[in-house]
Amino acid sequence: MSIEIRKVGVIGAGQMGGGIAQVAAASGYEVALNDISEERINAGLATINGNLARQVSKGHLTEEEKTLILARITSAPTYEHFNDADLVIEAAVENEDIKRKIFQALCPALKPTALIGTNTSSISVTRLASTTDRPEQFIGIHFMNPVPVMQLVEVIRGIATSEETFEATRALVEKIGKSLTVAEDFPGFIVNRILLPMINEAIYTLYEGVGSVESIDTAMRLGANHPMGPLQLADFIGLDTCLSIMQVLYEGLADSKYRPCPLLVKYVEAGWLGRKTRRGFYDYRGEKPVPTR
Ligand SMILES: NC(=O)c1ccc[n+]([C@@H]2O[C@H](COP(=O)([O-])OP(=O)(O)OC[C@H]3O[C@@H](n4cnc5c(N)ncnc54)[C@H](O)[C@@H]3O)[C@@H](O)[C@H]2O)c1
Repeated sequence: MSIEIRKVGVIGAGQMGGGIAQVAAASGYEVALNDISEERINAGLATINGNLARQVSKGHLTEEEKTLILARITSAPTYEHFNDADLVIEAAVENEDIKRKIFQALCPALKPTALIGTNTSSISVTRLASTTDRPEQFIGIHFMNPVPVMQLVEVIRGIATSEETFEATRALVEKIGKSLTVAEDFPGFIVNRILLPMINEAIYTLYEGVGSVESIDTAMRLGANHPMGPLQLADFIGLDTCLSIMQVLYEGLADSKYRPCPLLVKYVEAGWLGRKTRRGFYDYRGEKPVPTR
C-alpha cells in the first residue's frame, strides 16, 4: 500500500528545519513549522522569506510564486497542529535526550498513519525509532546544509522501518528534486562518518599549531580543491553540531581516532558556534570574516 504525503510537519525552525520547510513548500507540500517558541518560529519564517526574496531578485522566482510558497507554510506552536500531517520531520538540535522527549510528546498528537522522519546527523535511527509508538513508520531523512542548495538527501532505515515508509520517503525526496543515497544505520551514516573526522583533524591541526585558521583553509581549498576550507565549513555546520557528531562517533564506534578536539570543545563552551552565533573559527560581525586564531 503506498502512502501519499500532502502535509509535512517540521520540528525545529533553525538552519535545517527552515530549509526543509522552504523546499517542501516550494515543491507543493503544505507545511507546518514548529519550534520551542513563537519567536523562534517567526525567526525561521523571516529567514525563509529573506531566502525567497533573494531568489526573486535574481529572477529565479516570481513574486507570485514567492507568495504562494509562503502561504503554504503555517506556524505550529504546538503538536496539535500536526494532527493532519502525513509526515513530520524532526530537525531540532543534535541532542538525543531532546529528540527522545520530542518524539514522546509528538506521537499522541499524530494520526496513526503518519510517518516520522529525523534529520539527525549521526544518532541511531533505530534507537530514536524505539522511543516512538511506530518504529515501522520511522526513518532517517538527512538533508544537507544549506537545504535549498545541496543536492543530496541521505536516507537511513532503522531496523524496523517498513518498505512503504522507505518508498514514501523516496517519492518525497524525488518530488523535492533532490538525489537520494541510502546509508545503513551506523554512527554518522556515510557523509558525516567521512566528513567530520576530516573537520576534527583540521581543528587538531590548528590546536597543535601546524597552521593558522587561514593557512589550513587555504591549504584544503587550493591543495585538495575543496570549495570551502574545513574550518569555514565547521562554522557553517555549527560547532555545537560538529561536537555532537564527533561525540556520537567516539561513543558509538568506541575508537579513540574519533576523539573530539579539545579546541572544538572550548569554542562550544564559549558559545562561539560559528555563523549562527556570528563567531566561530571566524568572526562574522564585521563586513568580512576575520579568523579568530
Ligand atoms: N547544520 C548542519 O550542517 C546540519 C546538516 C544536516 C543535519 N543537521 C541536523 O539537523 C538538526 C538541526 O540542526 P540545525 O543546524 O538546524 O541547528 P540550529 O541550531 O540552527 O536549529 C535547531 C533548532 O531546534 C530548536 N529546538 C531545540 N529544542 C527544540 C524542541 N524541543 N522542539 C522544537 N524545536 C527545538 C532550536 O530552538 C533551534 O531553532 C540537528 O539534528 C543536526 O544534527 C545539521
